[in-house]
Amino acid sequence: MTPVTVRAAAKINLHLGVGPVREDGYHPLMTLYQAVGVYDDVTVADSRTWQVTVEPVGAVDVSAVPLDDGNIALRAGRLFAAHHGVDGAASLFVAKGIPVAGGMAGGSADAAATLVGLDRLWQLGTADEVLLSIAAELGSDVPFALLGGTALGTGRGELVEPVPDAGGWWWVAVPSAAGLSTPAVYAEYDRLGLGERQRVPQGLLDALATGSVEELAATLVNDLERPALGLRPDLAAPREAGLAAGAVAMLLSGSGPTWLALCRDHEHAHRVREALVDEGYPGAVAAPGPVAGAHVVEYA
Ligand code: C5P
Repeated sequence: MTPVTVRAAAKINLHLGVGPVREDGYHPLMTLYQAVGVYDDVTVADSRTWQVTVEPVGAVDVSAVPLDDGNIALRAGRLFAAHHGVDGAASLFVAKGIPVAGGMAGGSADAAATLVGLDRLWQLGTADEVLLSIAAELGSDVPFALLGGTALGTGRGELVEPVPDAGGWWWVAVPSAAGLSTPAVYAEYDRLGLGERQRVPQGLLDALATGSVEELAATLVNDLERPALGLRPDLAAPREAGLAAGAVAMLLSGSGPTWLALCRDHEHAHRVREALVDEGYPGAVAAPGPVAGAHVVEYA
């Protein structure tokens, strides 16, 4: 059968309200996701054994991506095959443009792309709600990677519901040379005793509906910013660099360490990106939002 290539986008959290840790170890979230134009492409093909290969796109460092059972795309493939009782296996080729361990859900994007790719490869026509429930089993951010656009996330982040977004937003993602562990940031959040889950403010929803950059800048909240900066004080420098480069606001992406510089438009984003590259952030990349969820880009 002809290989299938699926593109999946990175996510950012325009609002990340975190509640006290649950008994299962997860934190209840009130979050607002937006899919942004930084992508991983996953090509799935029939194979006698399960295997995954990862290649970087641009400056992405892929050395920390596991290639064994710890790889979430492989787990997605196996879980999907098991769900359908498929006996076969597949090879997964990941062209990785999303920073690794950057708080942009690159692994979740790969998992979502694998589900969509195998569904097409094996022509199974899996219902959306089944795909979403398999996705939720794989990780809190995987359902959103399927959905894309802009969406409210509740539960541990796996319950997603689209929200209106006027669109046309531009960001510059500023990756960090070193990754940051999501569980470590949540553990630091617990240690600090913050534990107040905040609702998504109406002002943020209004800003998205009207397209006002100033309103959006004034309503961005990430509860994980404090613990992430506590673990990594060096992350103050890229935030300052982004503001000096002209960003309207700087927002930590999820649990970090990638920062997002909010820009006024496409041209402004390119100027901010160039200024950041000149300041020693060569991995800075301009990205529009919102963009689509995991979708087939190549098939015969
Ligand atoms: O769901 P996922 O596997 O992506 O989560 C990775 C880790 O992040 C979890 O094991 C947990 O430590 C932390 N997490 C959390 N609360 C959430 C989502 C993730 O504590 N809502």
